[in-house]
Amino acid sequence: MLKICIFLLIFNQLVIFAAWGANLQCDKISNIERFDCFPEYGSNQVECERRGCCWSPPIGHKKLTNDMDTPYCFFPKDFPNYSVVDKQTQSNTLTYTIEKQNSTFRPNEILKLQVKITFDTKTRLRVQITDPSKHRFQVPIFNREFKAYPKLNNIDETDYQIYINDNPFYIKIIRKSNGKAIFDSSVAPLIYADQYIQFSTRLINNIFYGIGEHQDSLSHEATWNRYTFWNRDIAPTINTNLYGTHPFYMSLDKQSNAMGFYLLNSNGMDINVNPTPALTFITIGGIVDFYVYLGPSPSDVIAQHTELIGRSQMPQYFTLGFHLCRWGYFTSDKLYDVIKRNRAIGIPYDVQWTDIDAMSERLDWTYDKQNFTLLPEIVRDLHEHGQYYVNIIDPAISNTPNYYPYESGVKQNVFIKQFDKDEPLIGVVWPGTTAFPDFTNPNTTQWWLEQASNFYDIIKYDGLWIDMNEPSNFVDGSINGCLGDRYDEPPYVPRVLGGALNSRTVCASSQQYLSSHYNLHNMYGHFEAIATYHALRSIQKNKRPFILTRSSFGGTGQYAAHWSGDNRATWEDLYYSIPNMLSFNMFGISQVGSDICGFSGDTSEELCVRWMQLGSFYPFMRNHNDDVSKDQDPAVFSKVAQDIMKKALMTRYALLPYFYNLFYKSNQFGETVVRPLFFEFPNDLETHEIDRQFLVGPALLVTPVLNQGEEKVNGYFPNETWYDYKSGDELKLTKGEYLTLEAPITDTNVHVRGGHIIPYQHPSQTTKQSRKNPFGLLVALKQNATSKFALGSMYWDDGESLDSIDTKNYNYFNFLANENGLIGKRVVYGYESRMILSDLKVYGLDKTSVSQVLIDGQFYDNFDYDSDKHVLRIKFFNVNMLLKDTFDIIWS
Ligand SMILES: *[C@@H]1O[C@H](CO)[C@@H](O)[C@H](O)[C@H]1NC(C)=O
Ligand SMILES: *[C@@H]1O[C@H](CO)[C@@H](O)[C@H](O)[C@H]1NC(C)=O
Ligand SMILES: *[C@@H]1O[C@H](CO)[C@@H](O)[C@H](O)[C@H]1NC(C)=O
Ligand SMILES: *[C@@H]1O[C@H](CO)[C@@H](O)[C@H](O)[C@H]1NC(C)=O
Ligand SMILES: *[C@@H]1O[C@H](CO)[C@@H](O)[C@H](O)[C@H]1NC(C)=O
Ligand SMILES: *[C@@H]1O[C@H](CO)[C@@H](O)[C@H](O)[C@H]1NC(C)=O
Repeated sequence: MLKICIFLLIFNQLVIFAAWGANLQCDKISNIERFDCFPEYGSNQVECERRGCCWSPPIGHKKLTNDMDTPYCFFPKDFPNYSVVDKQTQSNTLTYTIEKQNSTFRPNEILKLQVKITFDTKTRLRVQITDPSKHRFQVPIFNREFKAYPKLNNIDETDYQIYINDNPFYIKIIRKSNGKAIFDSSVAPLIYADQYIQFSTRLINNIFYGIGEHQDSLSHEATWNRYTFWNRDIAPTINTNLYGTHPFYMSLDKQSNAMGFYLLNSNGMDINVNPTPALTFITIGGIVDFYVYLGPSPSDVIAQHTELIGRSQMPQYFTLGFHLCRWGYFTSDKLYDVIKRNRAIGIPYDVQWTDIDAMSERLDWTYDKQNFTLLPEIVRDLHEHGQYYVNIIDPAISNTPNYYPYESGVKQNVFIKQFDKDEPLIGVVWPGTTAFPDFTNPNTTQWWLEQASNFYDIIKYDGLWIDMNEPSNFVDGSINGCLGDRYDEPPYVPRVLGGALNSRTVCASSQQYLSSHYNLHNMYGHFEAIATYHALRSIQKNKRPFILTRSSFGGTGQYAAHWSGDNRATWEDLYYSIPNMLSFNMFGISQVGSDICGFSGDTSEELCVRWMQLGSFYPFMRNHNDDVSKDQDPAVFSKVAQDIMKKALMTRYALLPYFYNLFYKSNQFGETVVRPLFFEFPNDLETHEIDRQFLVGPALLVTPVLNQGEEKVNGYFPNETWYDYKSGDELKLTKGEYLTLEAPITDTNVHVRGGHIIPYQHPSQTTKQSRKNPFGLLVALKQNATSKFALGSMYWDDGESLDSIDTKNYNYFNFLANENGLIGKRVVYGYESRMILSDLKVYGLDKTSVSQVLIDGQFYDNFDYDSDKHVLRIKFFNVNMLLKDTFDIIWS
């Protein structure tokens, strides 16, 4: 390969002439319009031309640095294509039959296809391309489980228009409001073979978002690049397939209209990026089945996407608290010691976890009765202290003799089968040789419930952590290798780590109830999350299951939270935690966060302090590390560090009512809990690539320190009213600006956005206690054309019942303020509880003085107004201010 390149560089001119002579269709194509005709390794001229493609060194190209660069082998303009031979129109669907005369170079091409375009809703359409003569595998989850959405009555009502070109066949989807194509497959050929499907679309911008799970920045630039999808157990690494599969992207056009695209396909996949700008989707199975969302705002796109795939579940309240975990307590004495020392320093702390070292011989559904003798007692003690316990479960089940989960599993036929034999496939995971449950088999759900239930009889866990569910395997395929058939070794293998589909997982050829593992691999964790959800629902009666999963797929957020896996104790990984949580919020998994202070490697006090500060704004906050690194629970650090961590946690616990309201909105309306700045300021182009700052909901802007030794931080502040969260000092902006702020190790910069009212609650050491504390409201005023105003809302329920929303067993308030007062409007009051309002803070009040305050018409005198800072504080000491009925507070 290298030799050929050098040769071609020398005879560059000659080759271009040769290409010119050979095919006019090749020479017309500029570098950035080249679409790779040889995505495999080992591209060369002979093989390329045999494919009917163009071969030439990139024009003006100096040096081929790696294989993610301008291809030498690319499709000619007249590459064999499909053309439309028939068209049918039904109420909201268009069906086309398309045909191609001759096969190209991919084996088993399907020459006659059916294209079905469904006008789903006003802002969403679906395109499916299938083989009309034979059923092909389709992602089995959507139609079975996802809520029905209102059908469109009249297809003229849509925000989009569709254009189908007959010959060659291609699709353009056009946004009616500005006539721009948001999907355009004319740029490159459609190839549809049994185990190789490829199509491309031109992007509306050279910046796009999404495409997870990958270790990457939030925004992706359209340069030569590739993203591979094949769920994999590996510490987050750039350019590598990771734990989950979310072939979803979003992009904004020049007028900042957002569109989204989701490819509903679970097979091994590459998405190639071209600077055209364009994306090429290559999947090795299933069908073409994609959805396009019209937005037009970024939040609208996510709401439209999650309406389809299912919305993030409403979490139990305690799961928003602080979680502490490590692999390597090794004994229950040590575990108890860690719990006690963190309680002793007054750290807000809700949940204690154990990792695989607490299992007996690393067997699922057991605990080590020698080293963890005290575990049942510790769990009781946690519960007595209003704390909770979560334990780890890996899917792989040891096949050791007399182990009930295995023996009962064999009887119920729950394990993935070895090739064509009627025996469980055996791999190797933590306990040694193991079988892998097939969570697509209905028997497995029942069997899993039985195991979970038996263990619950011994230890009253409050949630389950499902790890290693890519599924991870310490040998490739199985202890007997794999069959080596067309599934194990397909004609095209995406650029998976290890170079083969069976790398550190089970054989693609192995059989599951619904289909082959080849088709189901990327959904293994998703199906395990569903089975675990059903088990917990049944065991813990009417409580919202708490599950943390490493592997995920579209829709997993309905069942589980997610963390970013085996990160490292580095400043770089501290940064990557931000794009990761922002991206997962786009994928519909709102409850997400990274292992705080880093999973592998020894953390430092400074890194851990900064990480606890940033982590206190993660939707899911857990400190966790591995078995060989130093302790990193808050209590092991200096008093100074402990105090800072405690302060960060106090801020988090105070803000939990605000977070909880965001989770409610995420669950009901598909809003994100954490979001990038461009979600709120799409018209400010400066925000489009920011991922070192983020927003919690619409109103809190977090500007963390992400570099070692820094005591100042530079951040971007869009043209908006911003107040320092703690002091109420306003940033004086007349336009969007980069500002350098003081960032001493003791604090994180957090700003409240004018126009918003934030509910908070006085913090305690656990949420069980803090939920009984008085509430407060932070009013951040904003000037509009006529007056100052702020709006807010608050959702509140018992924090655990599964059906609180459906049964209206909750309270909901709207708050509205201006420079003269605040109205709290009761919208729903279905959850009888004593919610005391104890204080009110108003930022940005421009009055020379405040001389009186009236609550529901009664004079009240416990207030303080600082006219320099423009901050009014009211403390309701001796009035019984309850959040129950509509109320008003007037100041003048
Ligand atoms: C597409 O294929 C048809 C034959 O099926 C051919 O007539 C047409 O020229 C092709 N279009 C392009 C752009 O190559
Ligand atoms: C298909 O192949 C035949 C035989 O090789 C050739 O004559 C014909 O031109 C091809 N058709 C197209 C549309 O490329
Ligand atoms: C049990 O604890 C002892 C003492 O800490 C340790 O050496 C041993 O490795 C532990 N055993 C297991 C199975 O973790
Ligand atoms: C479920 O288990 C029963 C035995 O308990 C077995 O007869 C049946 O075939 C299993 N069903 C499936 C789908 O594996
Ligand atoms: C900033 O916002 C203010 C208030 O909305 C507006 O009057 C001003 O024109 C904005 N400045 C810029 C540069 O957009
Ligand atoms: C300004 O805010 C007030 C108070 O919320 C509201 O009534 C009014 O409609 C707003 N005016 C504009 C121009 O947005």
